[in-house]
Amino acid sequence: MATDVLVVGTYPREHAIAWKLKQSPKVGKVYIAPGNGGTGNVAENVPIGVSEYEKLAAFAVEKNIGLTVIGPENPLAGGIVDIFQSKGLRIWGPNKAAAQIESSKAFSKSLMRDAGIPTAEFDVFDDYEKALAYVHGKGAPIVVKADGLVFGKGAYVCMTMDEAETALREIMVENVLKTAPKVVIEEYLDGPEISIHAICDGTTSIIFPTSQDHKTIGENDTGKMTGGMGAVAPISWVTEEQLHEIDERVVKPVIAEMKKRGTPLVGMLFPGLKMTARGPKVLEFNARFGCPEAEVYMRLMKSDAFDLFNACIDGTLANFNLEWEAGYAATVMLASQGYPDDYKKGFPITGIDDAEKIESVVVFHAGTKKDGERLVTDGGRVLSVSATGKTLKEALDRSYEAVDKIQFEGKYYRRDIGAKALQ
Ligand code: GLY
Repeated sequence: MATDVLVVGTYPREHAIAWKLKQSPKVGKVYIAPGNGGTGNVAENVPIGVSEYEKLAAFAVEKNIGLTVIGPENPLAGGIVDIFQSKGLRIWGPNKAAAQIESSKAFSKSLMRDAGIPTAEFDVFDDYEKALAYVHGKGAPIVVKADGLVFGKGAYVCMTMDEAETALREIMVENVLKTAPKVVIEEYLDGPEISIHAICDGTTSIIFPTSQDHKTIGENDTGKMTGGMGAVAPISWVTEEQLHEIDERVVKPVIAEMKKRGTPLVGMLFPGLKMTARGPKVLEFNARFGCPEAEVYMRLMKSDAFDLFNACIDGTLANFNLEWEAGYAATVMLASQGYPDDYKKGFPITGIDDAEKIESVVVFHAGTKKDGERLVTDGGRVLSVSATGKTLKEALDRSYEAVDKIQFEGKYYRRDIGAKALQ
């Protein structure tokens, strides 16, 4: 008998996961809580928020949900997995203790130190004056990170001393990010950044092909940090040997250290890495799929995602043969004018059906909602326009052709997604 599943989240990442789960012959009904204006095409939207853990668990009990998949970091950090497990429910994602690898930069840095993970030199401060003195001693460029979850916006890459002073003031004095007044100050690392994903069952991990996000709002990696403006996979210039080195020097030691500490990581290990002249170095750890990385992975995954999530929960990943389609995937994020600062919402969106007529194109929704029969913008990031191709260029050309078909007032996107991966 088919199993009904629940996906928790609102982003295109969760739309993509629901889209992929829907393709499994073992999956019955797909629910998504709360979803967005587009998730209704693969799942039934459930009006429960991502932080309403008890309500979500009660829904899972009531509907006899056989698998719940958590997309975003906040419910993981808040302990949703522990709550579901205490009620005997099957859920994919790390428990609260393991999710600290993402929710606390200080935790993840100490783990890196204990496990000998290659990373930037760093120090942790909760005293503003001491942090300021440290920054003055080290000089720019330097990286200042808030200790907490701030949707990808907590890292300030400071090329000048002025920028470093502003970062410290914003985080520790003005509390602009609404985090604790605690920072991790790191050596600046030079080199291209890539995203690594390794799915894990607490003991065994399977590393995915490499991918690359485009985190800033402006082309050529300029401007403010965003939740992610586009992604591509796989990255051809990362060799098999380099991926193997990352698996051996980063992924496996982290999985082993987490197990040793009594907080085994079941779910996803997603390190952001810099490929420096001195080898790969970890920038940060996340304990979930990246967004928009999830969109390209869901497009390329050949194996049944329902089986894969279950293998993590059952601790049987060692026997799982994770297979990928040949070729490449790309996704281009359409955003509202003004994002990541203030922007307006409520503009009608047209052209998605035409976009999806282009070969291989699938549009995953982010900030959209239904207004009667109309689909309207409802967030900073609006749509993640994905495509696959035999080459990366083909996947990108298809995504951008689809982008041109979609219209809404103030549509903004980066025109250089994948450009560096193509070089
Ligand atoms: N794509 C970056 C993130 O999801 O954090």
